[in-house]
Amino acid sequence: MTTLHQMSICPTICQMINRCMVFLLEIYSAYDMAERGYLETSAQLHDLKKFRQEMSRLEQMNIIGEMAAGVGHEIRNPMTAIRGFLQLLTAKNNYNDVQEYFELMIEELDRANAIITEFLSLARNKIVNLNKQNLNDILEALKPLLEATLLQSDNYLEIQLSEIPDLLLHEKEIRQLILNLVRNGREAMAGSRGKTLTIRTYLEGDEVVLAVQDQGKGIEPHILEKLGTPFLTTKENGTGLGLPVCYNIAAHHKATIDVETGPEGTTFYVRFKHPQFNSETV
Ligand SMILES: Nc1ncnc2c1ncn2[C@@H]1O[C@H](COP(=O)(O)OP(=O)(O)OP(=O)(O)O)[C@@H](O)[C@H]1O
Ligand SMILES: [Mg+2]
Repeated sequence: MTTLHQMSICPTICQMINRCMVFLLEIYSAYDMAERGYLETSAQLHDLKKFRQEMSRLEQMNIIGEMAAGVGHEIRNPMTAIRGFLQLLTAKNNYNDVQEYFELMIEELDRANAIITEFLSLARNKIVNLNKQNLNDILEALKPLLEATLLQSDNYLEIQLSEIPDLLLHEKEIRQLILNLVRNGREAMAGSRGKTLTIRTYLEGDEVVLAVQDQGKGIEPHILEKLGTPFLTTKENGTGLGLPVCYNIAAHHKATIDVETGPEGTTFYVRFKHPQFNSETV
């Protein structure tokens, strides 16, 4: 009996040991693979996080776009009528003593109108016609305006343009993108004099880069992680639409925006695909 029992136990033990061995081997190879693939996995996780952030930003954009398209037009009509009447009243002599109030009201209406214009530019599925042109030419044309903007707060502009190929661009949008980034740079440096805002263009690998660098106080960490979210602002008179508009414009051009920031200042990098590597470019 004992022999029989031992004989029947033996294969069972062998099977169990076998299973354990297979199990251990599986664990080992899984561990080995995980260890070897660890870096790749964390990079993928990082990409996934970035992708999710971008998706949630786009979702917010879509909601904003729908709201803008629906409401913006309706608000503008009565505003245009009010502005017209105010202008008529300013022309009347019997209101001479309250002229400045009329001017103030018109200014405020224009400000509201500008906000609606920015709002509308976030509208989704906007078709943008792109033309072949050089980013440097747009910057050269904008230079006097940018210089004047910075001089208002006793700061300076430096423009360093390298030779770059033509890109498919929407000039008005690119001007807006540059203006918004420069305005943010100027506002970050406001309060200190003699600082420099530097704009550079250069080729880097398969990308044409536009870099806007300020010597401001840097972006606060809690703002940095949500950068590009509509209505996110730390400024008393800010609307928080400047950067969302920039991200939208970049998306229209299949460009990306990266940020480097610290107590020494902030640099925004707008990276356009080199025309040679962009299948949609002429
Ligand atoms: N160059 C910069 N340096 C420091 N902080 C910045 C910079 N650019 C953006 N920020 C931060 O990001 C926030 C959002 O910027 P965004 O341009 O979208 O809105 P805003 O400048 O506040 O208002 P506006 O609608 O007038 O542009 C700013 O309020 C600021 O806190
Ligand atoms: Mg801004």
